[in-house]
Amino acid sequence: MERYLCGLIIYLLGLGLMSSEAFEVEVKDESKTCIHANLKVKFIIQYETINNTLKNTTLVAPDAVDTSGSTCGSTKEAPLLVVNFGNNHTWSVNFTKNSTVYSIDVIVFTYNTNDSALFPDAKIKGVFNTVRSIGESVPINETYICLHEEVLSTENVTQVYWNVSLLAYAQDVSLTKEFHCSGDTTPTKAPPTSVVPTANTTSAAPKPTPKPEDKPSTGNYSVLNGTEKCLLASMGLQLNTTLLVDGKNVRTTFNIDPNRTISSGDCGVNTAILRLNDSGIAIVELYFSIKLENFYLKEVNVTIRNATEMSRRTSTNLSLWEASVGNSYLCHKEQLIRVSEDLIINTFDVRVQPFNVQNGTYATASECFIDNDSILIPIIVGAALAGLIVIIVIAYLIGRRKTYAGYQTL
Ligand SMILES: *[C@@H]1O[C@H](CO)[C@@H](O)[C@H](O)[C@H]1NC(C)=O
Ligand SMILES: *[C@@H]1O[C@H](CO)[C@@H](O)[C@H](O)[C@H]1NC(C)=O
Ligand SMILES: *[C@@H]1O[C@H](CO)[C@@H](O)[C@H](O)[C@H]1NC(C)=O
Ligand SMILES: *[C@@H]1O[C@H](CO)[C@@H](O)[C@H](O)[C@H]1NC(C)=O
Ligand SMILES: *[C@@H]1O[C@H](CO)[C@@H](O)[C@H](O)[C@H]1NC(C)=O
Ligand SMILES: *[C@@H]1O[C@H](CO)[C@@H](O)[C@H](O)[C@H]1NC(C)=O
Ligand SMILES: *[C@@H]1O[C@H](CO)[C@@H](O)[C@H](O)[C@H]1NC(C)=O
Ligand SMILES: *[C@@H]1O[C@H](CO)[C@@H](O)[C@H](O)[C@H]1NC(C)=O
Ligand SMILES: *[C@@H]1O[C@H](CO)[C@@H](O)[C@H](O)[C@H]1NC(C)=O
Ligand SMILES: *[C@@H]1O[C@H](CO)[C@@H](O)[C@H](O)[C@H]1NC(C)=O
Ligand SMILES: *[C@@H]1O[C@H](CO)[C@@H](O)[C@H](O)[C@H]1NC(C)=O
Ligand SMILES: *[C@@H]1O[C@H](CO)[C@@H](O)[C@H](O)[C@H]1NC(C)=O
Repeated sequence: MERYLCGLIIYLLGLGLMSSEAFEVEVKDESKTCIHANLKVKFIIQYETINNTLKNTTLVAPDAVDTSGSTCGSTKEAPLLVVNFGNNHTWSVNFTKNSTVYSIDVIVFTYNTNDSALFPDAKIKGVFNTVRSIGESVPINETYICLHEEVLSTENVTQVYWNVSLLAYAQDVSLTKEFHCSGDTTPTKAPPTSVVPTANTTSAAPKPTPKPEDKPSTGNYSVLNGTEKCLLASMGLQLNTTLLVDGKNVRTTFNIDPNRTISSGDCGVNTAILRLNDSGIAIVELYFSIKLENFYLKEVNVTIRNATEMSRRTSTNLSLWEASVGNSYLCHKEQLIRVSEDLIINTFDVRVQPFNVQNGTYATASECFIDNDSILIPIIVGAALAGLIVIIVIAYLIGRRKTYAGYQTL
């Protein structure tokens, strides 16, 4: 357990972006995230004053918090999120799970009446606890979302929550489905364009069109390293898969829509990742690697979510899109990446530069072989013509020699 706590790295994310009353925190164990929380909360605390009267004070969780004391847990120990803020006030929540659901178990709020700004006239100075069992169950791999105001009351404390997003036991909030608390009638995100909203809030996935879709539009994506662009990509992607609809072997195509797609990723020295998330329905992860002086596309992970399930397909050991490091790779022609039996990606107008991006612009392009048809055909025709001429000349020479030989015998 000691090792666990030592290995725990705690990150505070994007705090500057949040308005106050809100905090966003993530608990990580080594590199894996185990708890993610983004929520707004205020506490109304009733306390006794020196004149023996009761008074209410309101404590708003600030955006600057720290999560020391949090743990990802272990087989024996439950994951615990501890959020410390202000003058020794703490809010914590722990979790349990079984094979299908995880539960938000107990919320413990601790406040310190020594905080003279909040409790200037408190009769008793000290630390007080308030414990509230929750027991809200959420399917594994889904993010608990509760946008409307929820009030939890204990004897002296009223906790008001809103805009809550909470995930435990899963690594990437962007890969999970949203689980809305009862009372939240509308999903957070407006459904993607051209999808008719239905009363079925659980099925956020748009209906795949049965007819083959048009060529996908080309999206321009990038990955940032701090504020600098470190990976550039533009491409049109179309998934051809049986994973979106019911029934065996019904293939549908799904175009990644750049307007709905968020790109993210990582830039390493020898590896780079581009992650394209089309509204949580389809997530395409492209892994680039370097061998000798060239980079290439080594691995593709695709996660697809339909109304009921999430499926993941992976293809490793690819050797595509190769170009020398320092250049970009360019291919206008349609290409096909066979990820699995049930999933093919068709790519169009690809340009990528996963390494050595300078000034946020593409370097010289290495064009793919198939794009060079236009040059290749004249070369082949030319070579064939040249060959033909040589043959004719040889035939002529042989013919001449034969006739000459004929004269001699005469
Ligand atoms: C409490 O007592 C202080 C002085 O002892 C007094 O100034 C204050 O007005 C009292 N407050 C109430 C609510 O009676
Ligand atoms: C403090 O707030 C609670 C809940 O909002 C309320 O029930 C209580 O009466 C308030 N107490 C005082 C002294 O205003
Ligand atoms: C969560 O915390 C509460 C209070 O500290 C504790 O009683 C409970 O057993 C914990 N739950 C788990 C699963 O450890
Ligand atoms: C998991 O817990 C939930 C809620 O407590 C329960 O409904 C479900 O049957 C449990 N599943 C298993 C496999 O134990
Ligand atoms: C949750 O997601 C992880 C990783 O994507 C997967 O390995 C696991 O089987 C999923 N669990 C459930 C119950 O869907
Ligand atoms: C909830 O959060 C979203 C995005 O941060 C914001 O647009 C919305 O106004 C918030 N709602 C409330 C009630 O604060
Ligand atoms: C939600 O979808 C299920 C399955 O498609 C259907 O049986 C149910 O009636 C739908 N509910 C609403 C409110 O449309
Ligand atoms: C989808 O894949 C199937 C099987 O390989 C193929 O027959 C079909 O033509 C593909 N559709 C498109 C639009 O690429
Ligand atoms: C969702 O995907 C799963 C896995 O491919 C499939 O078995 C299921 O039938 C699909 N459900 C719907 C409603 O399309
Ligand atoms: C994306 O947005 C642009 C501008 O808003 C629009 O012209 C284009 O048609 C959209 N593309 C798709 C696939 O919806
Ligand atoms: C891609 O998928 C494979 C197989 O599921 C997994 O081992 C690998 O860790 C994935 N990569 C990332 C970065 O998620
Ligand atoms: C990057 O931009 C700076 C200033 O605009 C310029 O001096 C530099 O030469 C550029 N480098 C490259 C590799 O284009």
